[in-house]
Amino acid sequence: MKFSTALSFALLVPFASAFTFTPQGVRKSSALFSTTAETPKMNRAIPKAPVFDEVCETTGVTLTRFMDEVAGLNPDARELTVLFDAVGTACKAIGNMVKRSQLPSSETLGMQGETNVNGDDQKKLDVITNDVLKRALRFTGRLGVLASEEEDEPVNLAAQETKKVLLDEGEKYVAVFDPLDGSSNVDAGIPTGTIIGVYEYDDSCKTDEQRDECIVNTLQPGTNLVAAAYCLYSSSTFLTLTLGNGVYMFTLDETIGEFVLSKPDLKIPDDSKIYSFNEANADRWDPTIRGVVNNWKSGKGENGKIFTSRFIGSMVGDVHRTLLYGGVFGYPGDTINPNGKLRLLYEGAPMSFIMEQAGGLATTGKERVMEMVPAEVHQRVPIVMGSKNQIQEVIDAYAKEN
Ligand code: AHG
Ligand code: MN
Ligand code: MN
Repeated sequence: MKFSTALSFALLVPFASAFTFTPQGVRKSSALFSTTAETPKMNRAIPKAPVFDEVCETTGVTLTRFMDEVAGLNPDARELTVLFDAVGTACKAIGNMVKRSQLPSSETLGMQGETNVNGDDQKKLDVITNDVLKRALRFTGRLGVLASEEEDEPVNLAAQETKKVLLDEGEKYVAVFDPLDGSSNVDAGIPTGTIIGVYEYDDSCKTDEQRDECIVNTLQPGTNLVAAAYCLYSSSTFLTLTLGNGVYMFTLDETIGEFVLSKPDLKIPDDSKIYSFNEANADRWDPTIRGVVNNWKSGKGENGKIFTSRFIGSMVGDVHRTLLYGGVFGYPGDTINPNGKLRLLYEGAPMSFIMEQAGGLATTGKERVMEMVPAEVHQRVPIVMGSKNQIQEVIDAYAKEN
């Protein structure tokens, strides 16, 4: 379809015929909702998703328009549109900062001179991007509490907000995020990202005295996630999201400053021959994962293919490529870090939700990452995620041990 045709299509065809909708999509009573082997188990009902029949028809479907459509189909999810509007804005702002950071005048390169609660040395951009995301989400008035890689403890916004404009009466959410993933790469201009998970908020933490309730609000398993998203700052800026019914990838069209739907209902290939690990740790991995990876290298794995390796060192970038090309991304435990490096709450669970919704799998080797209940906000988790066949191969190898 030529641009002019696409444009007139977008302008002239009423939305009712521009979109068709899934017949499934029961809302409200999760108890009534049955899951199949093909449907990852979640603790909530599956929302209805807009379906786009042809890619050319998606031309010009902005993130805002997409979220409007979701809200129309799922009145319960209406408040989420406000949150995603803020996420989109924050990602545009962070993307611009990352891009400008290479200019001497930006003065955002380098270290902050502090360490975060995980013991990582903070980059200036870790701190700035945390602030950008925090403010963007706070101004939605829909956030009860948030947890971030760069905050020691969950932040209770409900107790902080005094002005009505900052805290609406409607549904509120818990947001967990890694504001700048792969920040050790950022000064070299290598891709980085932002990861966000959204949970329901139970209203139990309203005052500063209710610290424990606020922490509990954030310590939910991935199966409770209402939504997850990542933004990737690379040759393009991408925003990929799931609301629990498929994965939708948007690309920032810088000429109009809008995220435009570029890959509706994205599915990861079931089989692959790419793995993505920090192999410098391989001697310290357990023999099971080492054995599987060695098999892939030599073509002795289940699919008989000789694998190749790709590792950026930015989880968002590595998982993004894995979603598009297929493959396995992993950060297993090792003898120095038994639970690996990645954090369950704001890296592991949201990215596993996206991976599962794209038809892939995410495991520790022995457990589904999505079912793990975090005992603490900054808990680490060993992770292997990606194409179904290869992740099943990992799960089978661990099962064989017992
Ligand atoms: P962050 O920059 O948010 O601390 O996360 C970095 C993570 C992840 O993005 C990446 O996969 C991993 O660290 C790389 O770790 P190594 O440098 O140990 O390979
Ligand atoms: Mn990270
Ligand atoms: Mn980070």
